[in-house]
Amino acid sequence: MKKIYFDNAATTHVDQRVLKAMLPYFSNDFGNASSLHSLGQKAEAAVLKTKDIISDFLNCKAEEVIFTSGGTESNNTVLKSVFSDYQGHLITSAFEHPSVLDTAKFLNKRGVEVTFIKPESNGVVDYQKVLKAIKSNTRLISIMYVNNEIGTIQPIGKIGKELAEINKDREKKILFHTDAVQATYFVPMDIVRLRVDFLSMSGHKIYGPKGIGVLYIKNGIRITPLLHGGHQENGFRAGTYNVPSIVGLGKAISLLTSSEHAKEVVKIKKLRDSLMTKVLKIKGVTLNGDKISRLPNNANFLFKNIEGESLLLKLDMEGVACSTGSACASGSLQASHVLLSIGVKPENAHGSLRLTIGKDNTIRDIDHFVDVLKSIVKQLRSFSPLR
Ligand SMILES: Cc1ncc(COP(=O)(O)O)c(C=O)c1O
Repeated sequence: MKKIYFDNAATTHVDQRVLKAMLPYFSNDFGNASSLHSLGQKAEAAVLKTKDIISDFLNCKAEEVIFTSGGTESNNTVLKSVFSDYQGHLITSAFEHPSVLDTAKFLNKRGVEVTFIKPESNGVVDYQKVLKAIKSNTRLISIMYVNNEIGTIQPIGKIGKELAEINKDREKKILFHTDAVQATYFVPMDIVRLRVDFLSMSGHKIYGPKGIGVLYIKNGIRITPLLHGGHQENGFRAGTYNVPSIVGLGKAISLLTSSEHAKEVVKIKKLRDSLMTKVLKIKGVTLNGDKISRLPNNANFLFKNIEGESLLLKLDMEGVACSTGSACASGSLQASHVLLSIGVKPENAHGSLRLTIGKDNTIRDIDHFVDVLKSIVKQLRSFSPLR
């Protein structure tokens, strides 16, 4: 049976070139990047080279890049570090990834005031609502760059620009963080344009390895580390450098600046547009989130009178991998907090399906999927008590 992978927002496979770059650092070049001997120096050189690649990509300085175990750790580090004394006010959105949302709730229980901005019904946060929520004790604004379920792109540059103006008149500057885990592959990542103080990225969403991520921390900001121990990362993050994964992440990021990558994005968008057009022709199917301000690979549909879980399992039996809600939320049958936040009714929110196209998909995948989907929808609706 043909296998079709449409779950690239959950994770991507490791690109062969990334794997090849990583392999020597598991065996011949296995040194600890903090060791003084030549094996250690070779590992350290690989870590520093990756910092250069990432700083070029983000348009920042190499010393502003620290390595973490992924997006979850980067996000936790920012929020828990800014509010290490559990005081002050945090502004975030109601549809963040759980690594921000649950951290915000954790801090809230310990005394931090939190404002959760509800996105508009198209899945885009109104930047003016964010700015209006600022109070005298606001210390951090954390808004995701791209939502992981519906792929909508948030006005980060706009918030950053306005915030810079507001900060001019404030003695205690408000810091700005964005979770750019889903954005990295597709949208511009220039720190100067975004005007953020912190930015999170993750390796496994961009054809790099799992368990490796980046936290950009603007020069001059001192943070309370999440992990204490060795002196790695200037004391910002203790723990032996994960050299093979760091090298893999660097390779994955360097591939994002090639002309081949630009072509991939055009191809992916064409496939996604074709998918959208075909699926939206099925009766009782609507699109979640804005049609324009969204990632070129994301389609998130709502199926009337169908349980998303049943749809997903039937598709899996036909060799198609996709997702209902976010991967992290599946396994529990709670309605997606993202869909609820944009006003989808709880009874309808269970009928959602997220399809995220990858660079290896083809038009044949789309057409085969649409055929399979049509017959499953027909089958499920004929049994549905919701009909
Ligand atoms: C928007 C967003 N933030 C953070 C994360 C967590 O990243 P990681 O899996 O690297 O911990 C994810 C992963 O799904 C995500 O989509």
